[in-house]
Amino acid sequence: MTSNAPNHASATRNDMDPKTPIIALEDVRKIFLTEDVETHALSGIHLDIAAGEFVSITGPSGCGKSTLLSLLGLLDEPNGGRYRFKGRAVEGLRANERAQVRNQEIGFIFQAFNLIGDMSVADNVGLPLTYRDGISKADREARVARALERVGMAHRMRHYPAQLSGGQQQRVAVARALVGEPAILLADEPTGNLDSHNAESVMELLGELHAQGSTLCMVTHDPRFAELAERRIYMFDGRIVDEETMHRLRHEEERRMRALLGGRRVAEEAR
Ligand SMILES: Nc1ncnc2c1ncn2[C@@H]1O[C@H](COP(=O)(O)OP(=O)(O)OP(=O)(O)O)[C@@H](O)[C@H]1O
Ligand SMILES: [Mg+2]
Repeated sequence: MTSNAPNHASATRNDMDPKTPIIALEDVRKIFLTEDVETHALSGIHLDIAAGEFVSITGPSGCGKSTLLSLLGLLDEPNGGRYRFKGRAVEGLRANERAQVRNQEIGFIFQAFNLIGDMSVADNVGLPLTYRDGISKADREARVARALERVGMAHRMRHYPAQLSGGQQQRVAVARALVGEPAILLADEPTGNLDSHNAESVMELLGELHAQGSTLCMVTHDPRFAELAERRIYMFDGRIVDEETMHRLRHEEERRMRALLGGRRVAEEAR
């Protein structure tokens, strides 16, 4: 294959009916078994994400958000249900095909940035491309430069992760997620390790990427950031619930917690 041959990702992208969702989950379940304990992390998830959407996922700790993102990212497998990625049944893919989808179609952004400490910014960003066939060094460098420009970090390409602020490291991680032109970006608490200024700036960047056409699915605890998404998904106890149910369940949980934590405050409020 020559360097200017179309890569697999864009070839499948062009073949796809534009109405086919990128992600289609039907009745997906995930159970973790540890010793004698069965945790139903996901119970009957139905979810479609179309090209160009920006979806946020919120919900209390332990409700299954990261588990869902791992399944979407083909990092883990469900125990039941069906998952179609761009119309293709994920269940039927062999290990190398799954790896190929992860490498070419999915960009991951993690809370802890997960940059490799002894590699420069440019090498970190270029890493996903080194696992692909048919990309020359010059092509790779051009793509890395473009991705770093998009996140405003081109001037730091020779730095190492430890020489950057948290916000800058996350920008570099976003560039690494973008470099392969994936079909979707999956972000798990992308602002979770950042102070509010850097968090806002990274969110602004994700908003810009969405405005430029990227498809995003983001888990966040922060309601302000969740609201920036055009579609908000609420999870509770391994299920997707509507907003009203979410507020009711949260309210009930808070009341239980207040009662548990003792009488004085509760008694004061009752007065
Ligand atoms: N590898 C695992 N083995 C066993 N149980 C797991 C595993 N991963 C997750 N779980 C359990 O599955 C449930 C959902 O976990 P998950 O990490 O998806 O929650 P979360 O919504 O991302 O929480 P947080 O907001 O705290 O990140 C939890 O009860 C968790 O303990
Ligand atoms: Mg999580």
